[in-house]
Amino acid sequence: MMAQSMLFLFFVLVKSCFGRIFTAPEQLTTTSYDFIVVGAGTAGCVIASRLSENPSATVLLIEAGVSDNGTDSAVLSTPFLAAQAVGTIFDWNYTTTSQVGLNGRTMPYPRGFVLGGSSSINSMVYARGPSEDWDRIATTSGDDGWSWNNLQQFIFKNERHAPAWNNRSNVGEYNPKVHGHGPLMTSLTANPSELDHRVINTTAELADEFPFNLDLNSGDGLGFGWLQSTIGDSARSSSATAYLHPALNSRSNLDLLLNTQVMNLISTGGAATTLNGVRASQSETAANFTFTAAKEVILSAGTIGTPQILMLSGVGPKEELEKFDITTLVDAPDVGRNMQDQPIFFLQWAANGDTLFSFLNDPDAINAALAQYEQNKTGLAASSIVFNTIGFLRLPDNSSLLENGDPSSGPHAAHYQISFIDTFNGNGNQVAPTDGNWISGSVVLISPTSRGSINLTSSSAFDHPLIDPSFFTTSFDIGTAIEAVKTLQTFLAASAFDGFIGSPVTNLTTDAQIEAYVRAAAVTIKHCVSTAKISKANETGGVVGPHLQVKGVDGVRVVDASIFPFTVGGFPQAEVYIVAERAASLIKETWSL
Ligand SMILES: Cc1cc2nc3c(=O)[nH]c(=O)nc-3n(C[C@H](O)[C@H](O)[C@H](O)COP(=O)(O)OP(=O)(O)OC[C@H]3O[C@@H](n4cnc5c(N)ncnc54)[C@H](O)[C@@H]3O)c2cc1C
Ligand SMILES: *[C@@H]1O[C@H](CO)[C@@H](O)[C@H](O)[C@H]1NC(C)=O
Ligand SMILES: *[C@@H]1O[C@H](CO)[C@@H](O)[C@H](O)[C@H]1NC(C)=O
Ligand SMILES: *[C@@H]1O[C@H](CO)[C@@H](O)[C@H](O)[C@H]1NC(C)=O
Ligand SMILES: *[C@@H]1O[C@H](CO)[C@@H](O)[C@H](O)[C@H]1NC(C)=O
Ligand SMILES: *[C@@H]1O[C@H](CO)[C@@H](O)[C@H](O)[C@H]1NC(C)=O
Ligand SMILES: *[C@@H]1O[C@H](CO)[C@@H](O)[C@H](O)[C@H]1NC(C)=O
Ligand SMILES: *[C@@H]1O[C@H](CO)[C@@H](O)[C@H](O)[C@H]1NC(C)=O
Ligand SMILES: *[C@@H]1O[C@H](CO)[C@@H](O)[C@H](O)[C@H]1NC(C)=O
Ligand SMILES: *[C@@H]1O[C@H](CO)[C@@H](O)[C@H](O)[C@H]1NC(C)=O
Ligand SMILES: *[C@@H]1O[C@H](CO)[C@@H](O)[C@H](O)[C@H]1NC(C)=O
Repeated sequence: MMAQSMLFLFFVLVKSCFGRIFTAPEQLTTTSYDFIVVGAGTAGCVIASRLSENPSATVLLIEAGVSDNGTDSAVLSTPFLAAQAVGTIFDWNYTTTSQVGLNGRTMPYPRGFVLGGSSSINSMVYARGPSEDWDRIATTSGDDGWSWNNLQQFIFKNERHAPAWNNRSNVGEYNPKVHGHGPLMTSLTANPSELDHRVINTTAELADEFPFNLDLNSGDGLGFGWLQSTIGDSARSSSATAYLHPALNSRSNLDLLLNTQVMNLISTGGAATTLNGVRASQSETAANFTFTAAKEVILSAGTIGTPQILMLSGVGPKEELEKFDITTLVDAPDVGRNMQDQPIFFLQWAANGDTLFSFLNDPDAINAALAQYEQNKTGLAASSIVFNTIGFLRLPDNSSLLENGDPSSGPHAAHYQISFIDTFNGNGNQVAPTDGNWISGSVVLISPTSRGSINLTSSSAFDHPLIDPSFFTTSFDIGTAIEAVKTLQTFLAASAFDGFIGSPVTNLTTDAQIEAYVRAAAVTIKHCVSTAKISKANETGGVVGPHLQVKGVDGVRVVDASIFPFTVGGFPQAEVYIVAERAASLIKETWSL
């Protein structure tokens, strides 16, 4: 009896220093917090975790989606299954508008609907981009705090290198000096393939054209190197696993509300432009609740969710709001505008050596790998295996495509990226072969000039907005993709591939052939940005100022991928983490936390 009640007391005491998790808004015991963070995604979990480090600050984090640690979450945590969460309960399942640059096609537009947001369902590539990207954000915002040199402390606070499960040495494959001590783990593959070694050998053979880069995360983001993935301890490292769960498990000043969508922000009594009220509901027909932030609301709902919430709060292009009878509080023409994303497509070649194609087409082998993973977190399912090397490249300086200006962030930033996949990737529109060995090369347009938009479809937060990335609507974009295909062909013609590479599946010789292929094959790599872009404090354009406060209103910041003024020169999750770490520090500074 005694032991049992002691145990009970112990449980209550331990329990009381846990953050509370609610699954419906009526469960909350208070409606007022210091800070309310909207969206428990990549950025939102960082903000909620950092702000709640100070026990005197109360934080409510509201997430529309589901938990990432239920019974069906192996698809999120198992590195081998990384791509398979798309189109499941963990995905918002958005769709684009018809793309004029892609023969009128529409396409699925995945976003994470789960704790960790898109960091819980993404492909786990970690690439901070070139230093010039950050220096351009500093110039665009007039705040030198965003420069590469000034961000180092936040980069180190976010990330750390971890060994692969087999403890394979990574000497000569990354630079330990440019990695930090943060909760987010990144690692290299445990199982380099024959293809990977031939790619790296090509960088020695053709070093002038395709230089080896020891660590693409050093600020020098050009050239070819080993891919770093957000994996550690044999599992996906997401914003939820790295930041949110540890905070929830140790703090009582952080409340999490799941399965609840924020509809809009309102003023709860002060000035009409002080948007400290957060309206939330579980469905179109369910009751709505208003929570108030005594200090700040932080919008971290992502490039689609954030502009939608702003417009539904009366902050957006006036003519757009009027269409749906929303009263304009601030006519902010750039909300939902300027959207940019990066298109990707794949080419395939027959291979004469070993590739992962046979493994990936053998259900028994896959099941065995998954069983081994379940048993002791080792084997092919425990690290990235299909895609382990990557190259970031520029157009030649004298390219006619640059005559009207250079859209990249500087002379050491990429225009496009190519990478190598150890199996057949058919772009979703080709029939895959059933035997043989195959590899694929992918092309990503890194610095597109096309810009799209997000518009409302109604005044309901529960209707998906219109999403138009406007892929390949400029001659720069299609011209750069054509150059990239030729570069990929040149790369694979290196003697390092002799005897390994066979015929291409599609014979692309002329520019017209390549263009037709690209327009038929390209899809999103899911890197959308810029729908609430940063600008200088004294500039009328842009949506947020240098410290990410929404212009024209009080008490609201945006902290997510929507603030980037251009597509990122690396991959966006690393950049979002960096923005979030600095933003948390700026908010703490404002409130002396
Ligand atoms: C399938 C996929 C693969 C990708 N692969 C890579 C990759 O390999 N490497 C890389 O760097 N990047 C990749 N990306 C992109 C990268 O993951 C995103 O750019 C980044 O995670 C965005 O972070 P965020 O904080 O802006 O938004 P998210 O992480 O998407 O977070 C937004 C959060 O807000 C929630 N939310 C939205 N609206 C509301 C609302 N109204 N109320 C309450 N909550 C709301 C969402 O459910 C979500 O949890 C990929 C993205 C996807 C979808
Ligand atoms: C996305 O689609 C899948 C498959 O149809 C479905 O199970 C899931 O619930 C959808 N996601 C949302 C947020 O509705
Ligand atoms: C706007 O601010 C920037 C610095 O942020 C300054 O360089 C510029 O001169 C200012 N412009 C005007 C018109 O005040
Ligand atoms: C890798 O190293 C860790 C820590 O030293 C150790 O616990 C683990 O057993 C090692 N794994 C293998 C497969 O060698
Ligand atoms: C890569 O080059 C090294 C050194 O020349 C050589 O030993 C190795 O066999 C090459 N690897 C492949 C897969 O060709
Ligand atoms: C899920 O996460 C919460 C919060 O971190 C934690 O308390 C709970 O134990 C986790 N559940 C499982 C099954 O891991
Ligand atoms: C929200 O709730 C209030 C009070 O419960 C109600 O008056 C109002 O109509 C609701 N609004 C919407 C949009 O459902
Ligand atoms: C993990 O399990 C597999 C069998 O499924 C076994 O071959 C392997 O040795 C185990 N590895 C470790 C590190 O325990
Ligand atoms: C660009 O310069 C290269 C190398 O000097 C040269 O081979 C090529 O013909 C030039 N291209 C154009 C379009 O001028
Ligand atoms: C949104 O509206 C603007 C202005 O009418 C228009 O230019 C843009 O194409 C629209 N975008 C979408 C996705 O409908
Ligand atoms: C590829 O196309 C070019 C030009 O159309 C042609 O000359 C060549 O023979 C073709 N090669 C193959 C392998 O089909």
